[in-house]
Amino acid sequence: MDDTKDFGTPRKSSKKLINLNIDGIDVSVPEGTSIMRAASEAGVSVPKLCATDSLDPFGSCRLCLVEVEGKRGYPASCTTPVEQNLKVHTQTPKLADIRKGVMELYISDHPLDCLTCATNGDCELQDMAGAVGLRDVRYGYDGENHLESEKDESNPYFTFDPSKCIVCSRCVRACEEVQGTYALTIDGRGFESKVSAGNKDFMDSECVSCGACVQACPTATLVEKSIIDHGQPERSVKTTCAYCGVGCSFNAEMQGEEVVRMTPNKDGGANHGHSCVKGRFAWGYTTHKDRITTPMIRKSIKDPWKKVSWEEAINYAASEIKRIQKKYGFDSVGAISSSRCTNEEVYLMQKLVRAAYGNNNIDTCARVCHSPTGYGLKATIGESSGTQNFDSVMKADVIMIIGANPTDGHPVFASQMKRRLREGAKLIIIDPREIDLVKNSPHVKADFHLKLKPGTNVATINSLAHVVVKEGLLDEEFIKSRCESEAFNYWKDFISKEENSPESLESETGIPANLVRQAARLFAQKGNSAIYYGLGVTEHSQGSTMVMGIANLTMATGNIGREGVGINPLRGQNNVQGACDMGSFPHEFPGYRHVSDLATRNLFESAWNTELYDEPGLRIPNMLDGAISGKFKSVYCEGEDIAQSDPDTKHVTHALESMECVIVQDLFLNETAMYAHVFLPGSSFLEKNGTFTNAERRISRVRKVMSPKNGYEDWEITQLLSNALGYPMNYKHASEIMDEVAQLTPTFKGVSFDKIDELGSIQWPCNDEYPEGTPTMHVDEFVRGKGKFFITEYIPTTERVNNKFPLILTTGRILAHYNVGAQTRRTNNTEWHTEDLIEIHPHDAEDRGINEQDWVGINSRAGDTVLRAKITDRVQPGVIYTTFHHPVSGANVITTDNSDWATNCPEFKVTAVQVTKVTQPSDWQEKYQKFSEKQINLVKKNEEKVN
Ligand code: SF4
Ligand code: SF4
Ligand code: SF4
Ligand code: FES
Repeated sequence: MDDTKDFGTPRKSSKKLINLNIDGIDVSVPEGTSIMRAASEAGVSVPKLCATDSLDPFGSCRLCLVEVEGKRGYPASCTTPVEQNLKVHTQTPKLADIRKGVMELYISDHPLDCLTCATNGDCELQDMAGAVGLRDVRYGYDGENHLESEKDESNPYFTFDPSKCIVCSRCVRACEEVQGTYALTIDGRGFESKVSAGNKDFMDSECVSCGACVQACPTATLVEKSIIDHGQPERSVKTTCAYCGVGCSFNAEMQGEEVVRMTPNKDGGANHGHSCVKGRFAWGYTTHKDRITTPMIRKSIKDPWKKVSWEEAINYAASEIKRIQKKYGFDSVGAISSSRCTNEEVYLMQKLVRAAYGNNNIDTCARVCHSPTGYGLKATIGESSGTQNFDSVMKADVIMIIGANPTDGHPVFASQMKRRLREGAKLIIIDPREIDLVKNSPHVKADFHLKLKPGTNVATINSLAHVVVKEGLLDEEFIKSRCESEAFNYWKDFISKEENSPESLESETGIPANLVRQAARLFAQKGNSAIYYGLGVTEHSQGSTMVMGIANLTMATGNIGREGVGINPLRGQNNVQGACDMGSFPHEFPGYRHVSDLATRNLFESAWNTELYDEPGLRIPNMLDGAISGKFKSVYCEGEDIAQSDPDTKHVTHALESMECVIVQDLFLNETAMYAHVFLPGSSFLEKNGTFTNAERRISRVRKVMSPKNGYEDWEITQLLSNALGYPMNYKHASEIMDEVAQLTPTFKGVSFDKIDELGSIQWPCNDEYPEGTPTMHVDEFVRGKGKFFITEYIPTTERVNNKFPLILTTGRILAHYNVGAQTRRTNNTEWHTEDLIEIHPHDAEDRGINEQDWVGINSRAGDTVLRAKITDRVQPGVIYTTFHHPVSGANVITTDNSDWATNCPEFKVTAVQVTKVTQPSDWQEKYQKFSEKQINLVKKNEEKVN
């Protein structure tokens, strides 16, 4: 079905078909379908203005009236459902008259500036005037009107021009039904009625700039500023958002080589036509003036950069790697790939390290986010990934969110989740802080908010499981048929112990025992319960234990293996899942197969035509420690900014300073690049081909919509380096890399670019058994056969509060920004968030004499930094919170090097600190400012001609 066509009202899914006749054409559609949609599916267009197929019908414009044989009057086709054997006429003289009259009224109060209007050619009002044959307006244009209404230009990305508004309510309904924010209303009645963002301008209102209203508006009232500036697009290319793990599908709408608009795809499997402010609007960084597009090299980080040709840069990097390996050993070099990279880029990075470097020193940024997910899920259920698709949430009766903030981190999925909550699903939130969903709107609020103390996740999940076991809420049948009985019995004995009861753990977790009991009963009810979790689960010293605890609770209550349930890790970045799948961990080949496994090694050795090393390589923390102790001398970082994103910044920068050849491949001179010797300019997601895999294992195409400003797609740069090192790679297109992945990885066996083009996207496993992919996993049995319960003993973190450090700092993200902010800080999203703030409870602020916006010094065992205060009871007493999107904030200067026992994932979420009122930045911040200014000057000093 045409994904750009607007059928007027949403598709219905009833299996019962209704037959009717429209304008002489026999039509058969699911029960509940509107006459308008039935007509549209049969190729008959009924004029419409207030209807669109992303929204429930409203019936306000009266343009879509039809005649139905045997019925009186003229029903609105958008709000009238089909009935068996109806005979409908959409075009009669009477209907033409009525429609003309309606249009005359609209046009008499509408500016007649069509030729100079930004949406000329893309305006439904204009189309409808043509469709009804309007030639003149009998009422004239001189009556009372809204033509002088003032424009609201406050939003950086779109304007609101009320003089063009026809009060169809599509924007209001989009904000409610699609986005779930309720920022807009229609104020007043009759002629006085108008769209209002709560009597404020858009920027000061509740609006989160998702753009759903702009997309829904049939006139030029709400329109993108990029369209006003550049005009209408001439072509469009389907691609995938490069920000978060939701993986929204977009049409990049182009004029020549320039993007003029990003429009979410209606047939996008993850987003169904919705988007957030980042994907829809924040793509300006791809052409930002800070972008570096010419390779650069230098001997020392004190030297100015020298712009060089690609050949010189690649040869220099290769000669340095060879020199270092010769001098310090084959193991002294490594690479770090990123979840921002495509699957194909990550695959080539790990291949480069294993085949050309000859070691396994490849790691990825998932080390610092979801590595415990991989470990915990592999151990318990046999596969390192989420079990469901996003649509599964629409069948959940109880949703439990642990350590995630979907409205900020995964906004489009949050909108879908809110829709399910408005339909009546129950909500349990486990989070130290009051995230938006706790009290989102009159229609969406948590039934239970278990406001635990940071660091006590495992105690909390154990106490929930204790209640399930002790109160007889186990799904005995599921456990008996699907799980290992010995491991279960062992676990049952452990979890039944009094020490795991909510009462015993209350003082540790801070959650009243009766709340835990009620939440456990709700979760274990007979319907579908699903768990969604984020970095608030994984970034702890017991991150892997907590993931196992989640799997235990899910299996114990039988909530896995069908729609509406499951374990759903909300992956942070666009391709965390894919980066892990592609073998970017030092101990695993693609498809999570251990490097010590002979059969797997033989497979890769014969395909890659080289011998492969059988010992796991270095993880990022080992690389950094090795650099400081003098054993590790070179790192190649693609798309990853460890100097900002990894914990204990001073330790990271000391390690980088200790290396002899740091190679950075990125769009910008990021924090890590300031310590680099080779800078290889990267290509943006708009400039390359490849695939991303989102949080639901959905592999989607990234398509090149313009030529790379740096000259190469990123995978080509890795290929150049490999060839210069003497290990030949000869891929002509990213699709050939995916073909190799498919050939060597059983879960990807059926994946190819052609297949993705055909199906839109594919959720792995995709193989002979599941040729079109697998939306729900572990249906009849777990990937490992039987599910395995693990003992999850709660061991408190060593990062405890004391007199010197009496508060706990925890961290998170904000909607407008994406991780280290390298992209979003170079867009107008900065208007929402110019700096990272420290949230502090009013009691803690008062104790310390801290007022709103005061400078606050934050000291931990690792370091100190200074941020401005935001006083709020969203955080509990004893807990402070900040985001980490601006490098100067130094949020990671204060985080310690504590990490998960199994995977080394840093304990970002728990740092004991003290805060005091101060008047100036920290020493580190002053040094940072000077250092980064100096490094930027070292780029500017470069006067060398490019070959
Ligand atoms: S702003 Fe657009 S969508 Fe909203 S009521 Fe006016 S014309 Fe309709
Ligand atoms: S941009 Fe999104 S949040 Fe803002 S008013 Fe429009 S629909 Fe609502
Ligand atoms: S929700 Fe995530 S993937 Fe979707 S548009 Fe926003 S940032 Fe992009
Ligand atoms: S489109 Fe049916 S009443 Fe407006």
